[in-house]
Amino acid sequence: MSNSPSLPSAPPPWRTALDLALNETASDPASRFLSLATIGLDGYPSNRTLVFRGFLDDTNDLLLATDARSQKISEILRNQNCEACWYFAARRLQFRVRGKLQVIDGSNRAMGQVRIDMWRELSEAARHQFAWPAPGAERTGKPTTATNITISELTPLPPFFVLALQPSRVDVLNINFEPHRRVVHERAGETWKSTHINP
Ligand SMILES: Cc1cc2nc3c(=O)[nH]c(=O)nc-3n(C[C@H](O)[C@H](O)[C@H](O)COP(=O)(O)O)c2cc1C
Repeated sequence: MSNSPSLPSAPPPWRTALDLALNETASDPASRFLSLATIGLDGYPSNRTLVFRGFLDDTNDLLLATDARSQKISEILRNQNCEACWYFAARRLQFRVRGKLQVIDGSNRAMGQVRIDMWRELSEAARHQFAWPAPGAERTGKPTTATNITISELTPLPPFFVLALQPSRVDVLNINFEPHRRVVHERAGETWKSTHINP
């Protein structure tokens, strides 16, 4: 399983704030989109939009899904450090979640069920994307979407990878107030230290 600490009886304050924002924006699919920055192979920041897929079991790890063949996987395998940035426009709250990414592929025995469960929850259209030609490769010929092939709902296609972001620092900015309120939460083992800082 994950080497993340399990949730103690009381979740860290940032998690409570994030759960509240997620609940209050549940009807808006766009509230599940976050920006995930990794360290590019060329040293530049590498940033893209991903869908938040929930938390891993009883931890604070954020789950994401991606294609094994995408650039981000090469980047993460070289450097697990990342930062997710997530703005809830309806709640005027920004979360910046720094941590390390774990890649969960088909060979991962301990976490394999997490991957299978997430695959089952995908829409058919989303599953088909993993049968598309390799992302990032030059497009040759006519675009294909491979909708005419049958894809199992139960068995993930090999390129379907799950990412688990284990947070170590969460910076929460609330712009509902004047001046704005900003709190940095830093993990120290099983506990979190929260510091109010200037916005
Ligand atoms: C609204 C939206 C949601 C997206 N969700 C995902 C996602 O959940 N997983 C993913 O791998 N890519 C997702 N993408 C595509 C990525 O932003 C990105 O283009 C792709 O993963 C390739 O990134 P890379 O070359 O940096 O690996 C999404 C794009 C948009 C616009």
